[in-house]
Amino acid sequence: MDLNIRGLGKSFGESIALHKTDLSIRQGKFTTLLGPSGCGKTTLLRMIAGLERPDTGEISFGEDILFSQKKEVPPHKRGFGMVFQDFALWPHMTVFENVAFGIRAAGRKDGIREKVMEALDKVKLSGMEERYPHQLSGGQQQRVAFARAVAIRPRLVLFDEPLSALDAVLRDEMRLEMMYLVREMGLTALYVTHDQIEAMSMSDEVIVMHSGKVLQIGTPENIYNLPNHPFVARFIGKSNWLAGGVSMFRPEHIVFSPGGQESQESYSYSAIVTQVSYVGDRYEVRLHTDEVREHWLAYYPERLREGTKVTVYVPKQHLHQVGESLKD
Ligand SMILES: Nc1ncnc2c1ncn2[C@@H]1O[C@H](COP(=O)(O)OP(=O)(O)OP(=O)(O)O)[C@@H](O)[C@H]1O
Ligand SMILES: [Mg+2]
Repeated sequence: MDLNIRGLGKSFGESIALHKTDLSIRQGKFTTLLGPSGCGKTTLLRMIAGLERPDTGEISFGEDILFSQKKEVPPHKRGFGMVFQDFALWPHMTVFENVAFGIRAAGRKDGIREKVMEALDKVKLSGMEERYPHQLSGGQQQRVAFARAVAIRPRLVLFDEPLSALDAVLRDEMRLEMMYLVREMGLTALYVTHDQIEAMSMSDEVIVMHSGKVLQIGTPENIYNLPNHPFVARFIGKSNWLAGGVSMFRPEHIVFSPGGQESQESYSYSAIVTQVSYVGDRYEVRLHTDEVREHWLAYYPERLREGTKVTVYVPKQHLHQVGESLKD
């Protein structure tokens, strides 16, 4: 069963947090809402959870209507789990009680101990049941929050930037662990983030949002290679643009030699190296060409000297027409 959203909209006073939106979140898939701060991700997630009341529209899960102008199912009856950025654990409750709380809140009364222990085992926290949140690291606290959300085997798990309070190394680790657990448990996930790497690496489907609107929905490959909007092209990865701001290509597609046969298939440009940054596995090279005012970015295996004149090639197959600009 899919989660379906029809004409869902929400304003706070004069400002529109979410324009009327239609969406489907597919069962068994990992779907991500991606967009910059303030674009309406949390508002949309909270409406799905039942924590925020929509102004217009309808939310249903399969045949089951969760919200319409005539009906409103309360959060704990929706059968969803939720993981928040700040973990939202009860400080006065032990790990066991925190997870059990999630199960009781969903109205389940039987087999609580087994469900808690099973969930804690999944997140590798067995033996820590009696600890309090302040006796755990940030990563462990987030595992408890995850266990609490999934202990009831929810039909949908909602995540709101669950990793952003963690340091970079832990964030990468937890990202892989959450991905693994969601897939292993066969859960359906809707994940909110403003981090494009997180979105691309975890998701089956990415929904890119901007100013309360959905701009593009697609697989990570699809939104990276075929952005339908300049905002998407710029927000997802690095982009180089031709004059006019319609055609773009990614930095990894700039090559420094014509490459045999490919020469007929490539455009060539004279450029000057204006800046070189070493990033470990390669050098990031900023290029100035007379063709465009905006700099281009390219990758090179060795350090080039700033001021060097180079000829670069862009294979035609990697040029992508993005469509009209964001002026509405
Ligand atoms: N309770 C509220 N009262 C008034 N305005 C609100 C409220 N909640 C959200 N907004 C506004 O609605 C818009 C969308 O906010 P939202 O929190 O959904 O964005 P977001 O995409 O989750 O951003 P972030 O990445 O910073 O968490 C913003 O302009 C915000 O200021
Ligand atoms: Mg938010």
